[in-house]
Amino acid sequence: MNAPVVVSGMRPTGRLHLGHLHGALANWVKLQAEATCFFFSADWHALTTSYHDTAVIKAAEREMFVDFLAAGVDPAKSTLFIQSQVKEHAELFLLLGMITPLGWLERSPSYKEMRENITDRELALYGFLGYPVLMTADVVLYKATRVPVGADQVSHLELCREIVRRFNFHYGEVFPEPQPLLTEAAKVVGTDGRKMSKSYGNAIELGESAEATTRKIMGMVTDPARKLRKDPGNPDVCGIYYLHKIYSDPETVKWVDVNCRTAGIGCVDCKKKLLEKLAPDQERLRARREAILARPKDLDDVVQLGIAKARGVAAGTMDEVRAAMKL
Ligand code: TRP
Ligand code: SF4
Repeated sequence: MNAPVVVSGMRPTGRLHLGHLHGALANWVKLQAEATCFFFSADWHALTTSYHDTAVIKAAEREMFVDFLAAGVDPAKSTLFIQSQVKEHAELFLLLGMITPLGWLERSPSYKEMRENITDRELALYGFLGYPVLMTADVVLYKATRVPVGADQVSHLELCREIVRRFNFHYGEVFPEPQPLLTEAAKVVGTDGRKMSKSYGNAIELGESAEATTRKIMGMVTDPARKLRKDPGNPDVCGIYYLHKIYSDPETVKWVDVNCRTAGIGCVDCKKKLLEKLAPDQERLRARREAILARPKDLDDVVQLGIAKARGVAAGTMDEVRAAMKL
């Protein structure tokens, strides 16, 4: 059997945070050892919601690549590239659009949800509706067999597989059906107890200084029902406990679990214990980010090389696609 091919992208919207790190990047880093990996900046996808503010995209993209590398994505193993620099994504998007029924796109749950929730901008747009078609082009261009995504993207991948089936039915077996690879979602909540998200202003960025990290953790919401030091708490509703499960050793996690429920420890003790691991890890990431930023030329080279590699693969696939479609 051929080695699995993994493709995943992120929209360049700014600095990544601990939610990205433990939700996606950690998984990418693991997959590098066992699969041929392509990781890219989905800058065209960023346009679907940021078409009014395009100036921020390129700067955000650079930060994002720095974060990828700092987190351990290894350019010797994985191909890093920019979607808009591989024009085949646009060509395949167009061709797939010819066989994608409107109803499939209109029924997409994330499409409906975003149309309902984002009200400050016009979203009744052709490009926005076609988001999953572009995503399909992104992954099948490299004949991805597995696509690591968060739970919110699974419905897009389902659509992707339907489009692939339809393509293969009409034109012959060109593409494998990509399977979603669900990140065993390490749950990361933000400082206010909601899902960690840049747009909520509750995020701890990847590689924030130890001081900033400490300040945010010490101010973080815990079990809201635990008002006094003597009140027993419930770690299962506390973001600090989720972070312990990621950062601390099993004995410490157990210690938190037991002593939170019995009020054996207070939240301040619990947070300080977490910071023993979290603060140095953030410091390590900060140092790696700085080292990468100090060598801008090396970063450019990594991305340029990745683009060249991606173009080679994409061009090969498009030759097959045109032949299959008799174009
Ligand atoms: N839609 C993804 C997100 O918002 C980003 C993305 C674009 C993607 N193309 C992709 C993810 C292809 C996986 C595969 O997170
Ligand atoms: Fe959360 Fe720890 Fe406080 Fe329990 S003791 S509520 S786990 S911070």
